[in-house]
Amino acid sequence: MLRGRSAPDRARRRRALLRFGVVAAVLALVLSVVGTTLAQDGAPYTATDPKSPEGDRIQDLYKLIFWMGVVVFVLVQFLIVYTAMRFKRNRSHTQRPNQVHGHRTLEITWTVIPAIVLLIIAVPTISTIYQTYADAADTDDAMVIEVYGKQWWWEVHYPGMGAPDAEGNPTAVVTANEIRIPEDQNVVFKLYSNNVIHSFWIPEMTGRMDVIPGHERRLSITPTESGTYYGECTEFCGVAHAWMRFVVKVQPQAEFDTWVTAMTAGPDTPTAAWVPNGDVTQTPAEFAVCLQCHVIQGVNSAGVGTEGGLQQGIYSDPTSLAAAPNLTMLGCRDTLAAGLLENTPENLALWLLNPGHVKEGNYMYAVGQGVKNQDDPESAGYRVSPDDIPNLVGYLESLHPAAGCPDAGAANGNMNTDQLAPNAQPVGTPEPVEGAAGAGATPGAETPGAATPVAGATPVAAGAAGAAQVSLEGGDLYFAPTALTVAQGGTISLTNVGQLPHNFAIEGYNDTTPVDMPNGETVDWVVPNDLAPGTYVFYCAIPGHRQAMNGTITITAP
Ligand code: CUA
Repeated sequence: MLRGRSAPDRARRRRALLRFGVVAAVLALVLSVVGTTLAQDGAPYTATDPKSPEGDRIQDLYKLIFWMGVVVFVLVQFLIVYTAMRFKRNRSHTQRPNQVHGHRTLEITWTVIPAIVLLIIAVPTISTIYQTYADAADTDDAMVIEVYGKQWWWEVHYPGMGAPDAEGNPTAVVTANEIRIPEDQNVVFKLYSNNVIHSFWIPEMTGRMDVIPGHERRLSITPTESGTYYGECTEFCGVAHAWMRFVVKVQPQAEFDTWVTAMTAGPDTPTAAWVPNGDVTQTPAEFAVCLQCHVIQGVNSAGVGTEGGLQQGIYSDPTSLAAAPNLTMLGCRDTLAAGLLENTPENLALWLLNPGHVKEGNYMYAVGQGVKNQDDPESAGYRVSPDDIPNLVGYLESLHPAAGCPDAGAANGNMNTDQLAPNAQPVGTPEPVEGAAGAGATPGAETPGAATPVAGATPVAAGAAGAAQVSLEGGDLYFAPTALTVAQGGTISLTNVGQLPHNFAIEGYNDTTPVDMPNGETVDWVVPNDLAPGTYVFYCAIPGHRQAMNGTITITAP
């Protein structure tokens, strides 16, 4: 009975509540500290465990503010709980409490204390801000790296480090989406944009810096630990903003020097042919169109990309397609398309074939798809022929020094693919086609590119019956569905909804005589009786397509 509660009862209840309040506050504190610790443990985008003194300074500031915040939080919570308990209304309170208006001492106290707290925060904050700008202004002992924010990738210049030009003036080493820094070297980034606002951020190094057209923004870091770090654009800058990432490789000075040497290496003996694993002096014919925009140091691409050609970095016309990443030593890079895909021959083929699927909005899409203006399919452009893909991939992957990449092995092998686009499946999401899936077929069960070849025919369960008619859609670059079941003598309606040519081959059956799938048309193919019941791999036999266009087909007895 509440009414009959005695004074000792109330005191007990008060103590229990007080205990609860204290326990809750301590628990919240412990959880936040544990959470912060876990968050910084090995996370590639952590900002709480800086690898540079510049980042440490900012982190120290955060720590100061955090612990001051903790003290204020605990104090305030304690006072709230204490006040609520101490001045709680009870049965002996029969009258309104004293109404207080104005209390000078109290008001001065609660004005002065926060003022002191803010002052304690302000002094180191302002000093850190000035120190950060002073560091970035001082390039005396620093290595200057110019970074240009593009839509949607980063161009990186190392001024003065390149081979001398025809007049003997030093040029810059130019690369894209990958920044290399010698360990313990103070670096001052000069950040530029000639298009929209970007923001340059390497979370493990220091704070971010907006990259603003018409301004030179600067950021100074001195990385203290060799390793691979990740950076990205943190200002919304258009369609592919989320895929404007880069890799930062901090390495011992000697490794960095080797890399610079490789980047500046001129051609060996110029030949007209592509030299598969040596220094590249000329480009294969398939690459000629790429040279309209891309530059490779040491090849016969003198007409583009130089400051005279006005096509790189801040010199390039931001609205022009002729503003593309420098591809020198592409074979040694970890990623493709600004940190979007791991640099493998398979990914490179997919990227070249359909950049629009891989990275929506990018400008190479417009070129690769044969339309300069994506909204106007009639406008003319150049289309990379699928037939050229194997040669292009072979050529681009061969872009490394004859002796191999400067840091082949460990440094190249520790790419954390979890950090790469988890959704960069270059194929469209295959929609199951109405009526296409026969008994037992699971549309989409096969991951494109991961199909295990089914050796010969796998026996089909007795009584399983395939449909008499199924549909298979082929697009750029996918098949939908990726599993079919059809009876012998049944019909497969093959429709090509893409812009590229495709065909339909069954492994071990008609590899060399695939069924043609003309663009925009539907071809009915009757399953011949000499195709024995069983499960087979089907694929598109156009060079470069199989990787993304494959599936399994189960043939049942009629
Ligand atoms: Cu550049 Cu977002």
